[in-house]
Amino acid sequence: MANPCPAWRRLYLAVFSVTTLLALSDTSDTGPHACRCMPQDPCWPEDHQWARFNKTVDGNLIATVPIASVCHIDSFTPYDQSQCAQLQSTWGFPETHYESSSSIMAPIFTNLSCNAFSSKTSPCTIGNYVQYTVNATDVAHVRKTINFAARHNLRLVIRNTGHDLLGKSTGAGGLAIWMHYMKDISIVDYDSSAYSGKAMKMGAGVQSFEASDAAHTAGLVIVGGNCPTVGLTGGYSQGGGHGQLVSHVGLAADQVLEWEVILANGKLVTASPTNHPDLYWALSGGGGGTYGVVVSMTSKAYPELPTASGNLTFSDTGISRDTFFAAVAMFVSILPSIGDAGGTSIWWLSNTTLSTTPTTIPGGTSTLFNSLFKPLIAFFEQNKIQYTYYVNDFPAYYDAYQTMSPPINITDQLPGGRLLPRSVVEQNLPDLNTIFRNIVETNAGFLISGVMVNSSRVSYPENSVNPAWRVALVNVVIGAPFDYTDWDGNFARKQLITDELMPLLEELTPGGGAYLNEPDPNQRDWQQVFYGDNYDRLLEIKRRYDPHNRLYGFKAVGSEAWTVSENGRLCKSESY
Ligand SMILES: Cc1cc2nc3c(=O)[nH]c(=O)nc-3n(C[C@H](O)[C@H](O)[C@H](O)COP(=O)(O)OP(=O)(O)OC[C@H]3O[C@@H](n4cnc5c(N)ncnc54)[C@H](O)[C@@H]3O)c2cc1C
Ligand SMILES: *[C@@H]1O[C@H](CO)[C@@H](O)[C@H](O)[C@H]1NC(C)=O
Ligand SMILES: *[C@@H]1O[C@H](CO)[C@@H](O)[C@H](O)[C@H]1NC(C)=O
Ligand SMILES: *[C@@H]1O[C@H](CO)[C@@H](O)[C@H](O)[C@H]1NC(C)=O
Ligand SMILES: *[C@@H]1O[C@H](CO)[C@@H](O)[C@H](O)[C@H]1NC(C)=O
Ligand SMILES: *[C@@H]1O[C@H](CO)[C@@H](O)[C@H](O)[C@H]1NC(C)=O
Ligand SMILES: *[C@@H]1O[C@H](CO)[C@@H](O)[C@H](O)[C@H]1NC(C)=O
Ligand SMILES: *[C@@H]1O[C@H](CO)[C@@H](O)[C@H](O)[C@H]1NC(C)=O
Repeated sequence: MANPCPAWRRLYLAVFSVTTLLALSDTSDTGPHACRCMPQDPCWPEDHQWARFNKTVDGNLIATVPIASVCHIDSFTPYDQSQCAQLQSTWGFPETHYESSSSIMAPIFTNLSCNAFSSKTSPCTIGNYVQYTVNATDVAHVRKTINFAARHNLRLVIRNTGHDLLGKSTGAGGLAIWMHYMKDISIVDYDSSAYSGKAMKMGAGVQSFEASDAAHTAGLVIVGGNCPTVGLTGGYSQGGGHGQLVSHVGLAADQVLEWEVILANGKLVTASPTNHPDLYWALSGGGGGTYGVVVSMTSKAYPELPTASGNLTFSDTGISRDTFFAAVAMFVSILPSIGDAGGTSIWWLSNTTLSTTPTTIPGGTSTLFNSLFKPLIAFFEQNKIQYTYYVNDFPAYYDAYQTMSPPINITDQLPGGRLLPRSVVEQNLPDLNTIFRNIVETNAGFLISGVMVNSSRVSYPENSVNPAWRVALVNVVIGAPFDYTDWDGNFARKQLITDELMPLLEELTPGGGAYLNEPDPNQRDWQQVFYGDNYDRLLEIKRRYDPHNRLYGFKAVGSEAWTVSENGRLCKSESY
């Protein structure tokens, strides 16, 4: 048995190549619907079928043109130097991507197939971008698109703003339903056994800034992102959703009273604590893009309130490295008390600087704010640390947010995230601080971004938010620079995060979790880390509402049923 018989081996190789050839000649199938169809396949719809489909969606079908096509000599649009320069200068703005029918904001998931920063002669292909997008403006468009994708065995993608850091709103060979223009907003007086009071009903395309503008006009506030452009109803609220009101009233997912959803079978249902409670539970925290297509969300709204907000920056200029990191530890040590006061703190740490932009206490005053920062400021004075500090009382949360939150670019960084339990901050700050220092000293440009919120300060409904959130004090995200002209370098940095930096945070937080919207895409044991003990129940619900697996998202619940091959093709995993 030690020496395999050479004849058998030849036979095995022969069989292997025949099956390989078969697989290549009929790529779509080794069983019924084993793979989704791709444009080069015989099963891909003919032009006349696309044209007929287009009529059924009122002419809203868009054939994809990669936005960076203007930077290349290709078959899409003519090369245009000034348009390309314009695109390069606005690439970092979220608008550039969410106003497009196919572009996404996480560059690693574009495979740089049409790169705005490469030479004009380098190729521009659709690659991982979707092939077609339906600009959906009503329920019928959504339903027709689900049906067409099912009939032709196409990869179906739900696209809202394209913010997703796991590339879940794109996919090779995809047909996307684009929810961006479903923008209805209304303020309602909600009355159910769970809640009586003001609420906002918003269409699937409503973005954070639009909801907060509408709320403010009505004298209300609503939980939205620190980033104003995320889609509230999409991956943001469905995945948890943090922002500056969270310690005051809870996560975005905790605010949801009901979802209107089109299921994979085309049926429109309302999911609430009393109607399809399983689906309501799953959609409220269990991640976007996999249980159904949400067409509207109704969430709690709260009275406007005076708010204290401030910023603080200090650096290592003129002090020792040890003193700088002692100040970092001092900053981290005051975070629990800010959370206890109903405040949140958005901060980042580089090799040489720590900055909080901003720290906000809805309902708080600058007097309270100053008292919380007092020990830190005293430490700065004692140790001759250079710093800037600013705090103000704002008549409304809205004003604080508008004034104190700097504009946010797309995340052209490679991320790795972990939810830090409060117990680690309180009991193991020296080790935590050493790890922070190791991370930012690893390589030039490595950052740590922190979002301190207390998502369990007020009572929250039973939903599928990762239980790790409820004991977490800070969502920590490592950011490594992404270089549009050095793909191999990006891969090396990505691997460094997964193999060396994430394990530091993981060892410090055994059994802990990560925020599914801001994680390391290579996260090991992701089912447990992203979803906690909710995973099995989420998977059951996914199978109940999408029994034919129409919806797929990278590391979304149920995604282990699929494998993505090198060319982006989506195929059923062998064990399924
Ligand atoms: C610059 C930037 C800033 C960010 N800031 C914050 C922040 O302050 N707080 C925070 O919590 N997160 C933040 N995030 C993470 C954000 O929550 C996620 O990127 C989230 O996925 C965005 O949701 P979206 O619907 O806007 O994006 P998309 O990329 O369009 O969609 C995200 C996921 O949701 C699915 N989806 C979208 N719409 C629907 C729908 N109608 N029905 C069903 N599934 C749908 C998509 O298929 C995809 O799986 C930020 C991300 C970026 C890039
Ligand atoms: C769909 O129809 C509209 C209106 O006729 C047209 O403008 C658009 O180009 C068509 N889309 C595709 C992909 O052909
Ligand atoms: C944000 O994006 C804009 C447009 O691409 C760019 O000019 C600017 O430098 C970016 N800012 C940061 C901090 O990355
Ligand atoms: C991604 O890029 C690699 C290398 O260029 C290529 O082999 C692969 O087919 C690409 N994938 C997609 C989906 O375009
Ligand atoms: C999508 O539809 C909206 C609403 O009808 C329209 O304003 C917008 O221009 C359309 N976008 C594209 C790219 O077709
Ligand atoms: C702090 O906020 C004030 C008021 O918005 C602003 O003028 C200042 O530039 C900010 N400082 C830092 C370091 O961000
Ligand atoms: C970090 O900063 C120190 C002091 O400013 C510098 O000597 C060191 O090279 C920096 N390291 C990295 C990785 O940027
Ligand atoms: C959140 O606030 C509650 C109530 O004040 C407190 O008991 C809990 O420890 C806090 N949790 C975190 C993670 O800060």
